[in-house]
Amino acid sequence: MFSWLNKKDQAAIPADLELDPDHIPTHVAIIMDGNGRWAQQRHLPRVAGHKQGMDTVKVITAAASDLGIKVLTLYAFSTENWKRPKDEVNYLMKLPVDFFDTFVPDLIAHNVRVNVMGYVDQLPKFTQDAVNRAIEQTKDCTGMVLNFALNYGGRAEITTAVQSIVADATAGNLTAEDVDDDLISSRLMTAPLGEYADPEVVIRTSGEKRLSNFLLWQIAYSEFIFMGPHWPEFTPALLAEAVYEYQHRKRRFGGLTNK
Ligand code: FPP
Repeated sequence: MFSWLNKKDQAAIPADLELDPDHIPTHVAIIMDGNGRWAQQRHLPRVAGHKQGMDTVKVITAAASDLGIKVLTLYAFSTENWKRPKDEVNYLMKLPVDFFDTFVPDLIAHNVRVNVMGYVDQLPKFTQDAVNRAIEQTKDCTGMVLNFALNYGGRAEITTAVQSIVADATAGNLTAEDVDDDLISSRLMTAPLGEYADPEVVIRTSGEKRLSNFLLWQIAYSEFIFMGPHWPEFTPALLAEAVYEYQHRKRRFGGLTNK
């Protein structure tokens, strides 16, 4: 199963955690919370938590790819995160530059394609450049999709989708009867993910139990897994534990039989 994850992280996954390889969630989405608290506990500036969080992203990307997950969506910056102090926002805008500059060769070597969803055109030019470069450099990779939600918000996404549907209706290209689940899904930022658009699992670290405007439409039938550790201390073993938990949940999608 493991071709990328280092031996130490592999060894930390409990040997008795028997994952069913035929029942790996295809799309896992993570709210990476707790960077600030992790730093605070160590008397470090908040941005040190983000830096450590970036290293966690690398390890978890390797673990998710090795586990056979098809799409890993990571909530890196929300449309509400602009309210943070200017220095912190600036730091967060520089992280993708650092991340992709150092990690794209590994992503290509392991066939991982980068995708970004969010209002990318509102990001600083240097962030946009880094993101677009990574997307271009990995565009032929056919393995896992590493999908960053960057300047993303669920309500804004739905608002944009409704605006595009109303524009089409006003132009006479759509009627009210044409509007259904599939049409709405096709206007959302996850549409390029095709059959994997909706996550089976949403993980939030750091003990908070809320969604914070993440994938509001797509999580209709997702399994939520809330975990205590802060994102900088999240590990492949914890990801494997979440997959195990998912594999033992009963999913009925509103019906009576377990799926
Ligand atoms: C939430 O922790 C985290 C964020 C808002 C930023 C997430 C960014 C990373 C993990 C860096 C990786 C990004 C890329 C693009 C590689 P918080 O600051 O809200 O923590 P707190 O609730 O403890 O204050």
